[in-house]
Order: sequence, then structure tokens, then C-alpha cells
Amino acid sequence: MPATEHTEMLSVPGGCLITFEGIDGCGKSVQASALANRLSREKYAVETVREPGGTALSEKIRDIILDRGHMEMAPAAELFLYEAARAQLMSQHLAPLLDSGAVVICDRFTDSTTAYQGYGRELDAGFIRQANGVACRDRYPDITFYLDIPWEESLRRRARERRDADRMEMEQKAFFQRVKTGYAAIAHADPGRVNHLDGMRSIEELENKIYVIVRKKLDSLRGVTDETENPRP
Ligand SMILES: Nc1ncnc2c1ncn2[C@@H]1O[C@H](COP(=O)(O)OP(=O)(O)OP(=O)(O)O)[C@@H](O)[C@H]1O
Ligand SMILES: [Mg+2]
Repeated sequence: MPATEHTEMLSVPGGCLITFEGIDGCGKSVQASALANRLSREKYAVETVREPGGTALSEKIRDIILDRGHMEMAPAAELFLYEAARAQLMSQHLAPLLDSGAVVICDRFTDSTTAYQGYGRELDAGFIRQANGVACRDRYPDITFYLDIPWEESLRRRARERRDADRMEMEQKAFFQRVKTGYAAIAHADPGRVNHLDGMRSIEELENKIYVIVRKKLDSLRGVTDETENPRP
């Protein structure tokens, strides 16, 4: 390929880890993929992964976690399985990508464990913090979007998709209310990182809002200011 046709990818020092959070059907996958498309068009090196998953081993663990044949799973066993999947994803896949300056978009991450296993299952918050830290090697998200929808809307969207519930989705309203309380607390405690958005807004409106926040963050991580983008004559 002639040198002139070589496309220069935009690199972010230390990479940028963006996560999408919220209960089932809140729009994580739709927004993660829209954002990835937009950033790819702008020549960022972008990788999208889902949690649990993203490596062969982590996908196998995902199958065990979500299998409705394992309704007997103890809360602590569930926690360790999620952290095992995350530890493998981080060390095998995400850490090298972030080191190379890529933008990594994660459909669920550490906040899911805090919300579901901490608030939902009521496991010890301090222990979950430690376990999350070990699994993600203390590389926490740079930006997080919490898409907030009522539980009833989650059920409506799932019904529209005519999809069977997995093991986690079999839980009842009280469980998801605790999870939502957890997410709200996470967002409240870390407003600089977590953007608590109304997931009932239209897909397009959310997409645009998310893009503006991400662009601002990427510009700041790359040391780009209005001045460097549009130098004065
Ligand atoms: N803002 C929105 N308004 C209306 N419908 C939406 C919105 N966002 C997503 N949806 C629809 O809701 C359904 C679930 O969206 P999506 O798969 O992105 O959710 P999710 O958070 O990834 O769910 P899960 O946790 O089950 O993977 C899809 O049919 C999608 O088109
Ligand atoms: Mg999804």
C-alpha cells in the first residue's frame, strides 16, 4: 500500500476504558456499539467487549454463570466466577490493548459486581472492592455510563425481544430494586466518572449525549485543546 494511503490511528496515552452499566435492557449494547462505530470512523483504535466474556475462558465462565440449570449457585460462588472471568479478560485482552493506546468499550464491568453481588446479593462491600481491584488490576474505568430504567421497562423490552430470561434475569423485582439502589449510590459517590443518564430518553438522544462526554474525555487524555485543534492564525 502506498504510504499516502496508510491511515494513521489516533492513540490515547494509557488507553481509555469506557464502561456501560445498568439493568437488563437499559440499552448498554445498543449504545456501546453506536459509540464504537462513531469512534472507529474517527480513526480511534476501538475494541468492544462484553462482561462476563471477551476471552475463550471468560466466555466459558459466562455460560456457567448465566445457566438456568445452576439456580443453586451460592452468592460467593457467583462473585468469584464473575471476578475470575474479569481477571482473565483484563490480563489477556484489555491490559495490552490499553497499553497500546486503544479505546476499550466494556458492556458491564466492576460496577456491575458492586451493584449485583454487593447490593443485590448483599455480599460484603469492602470485600467486593478488594476482589474487583485484584481482577481489574486496579485499572478502573475512565468514564462510565449508567443507563437508568425502571424494572418494569426492563421486562417490557425483554418481552418485545421474545428472549428467555437467563439465571440472573430470573430474579424478582426486589433484587433489581436493590441493584438500582446500588447503581445510584455508585454514581452519587463518583460523579466525575459515572454519568447517570435517563435510559428512557431516545436512543439517538442518548447516543449524542454520550458521544459529547466521550469526545471531551478523549481530547483531555490526548492533551488536545480547542487551541491545538483550531490554532489561531
Ligand atoms: N433508549 C431506548 N429507548 C427505547 N428502546 C431502547 C432504548 N435503548 C435500547 N432500547 C431497546 O431495548 C432493547 C434492549 O437494548 P440493549 O440490548 O442495548 O440492552 P442491554 O442493556 O444491552 O440489555 P442486556 O443487559 O439484556 O444485554 C433493544 O431492543 C433496544 O433496541
Ligand atoms: Mg446487552
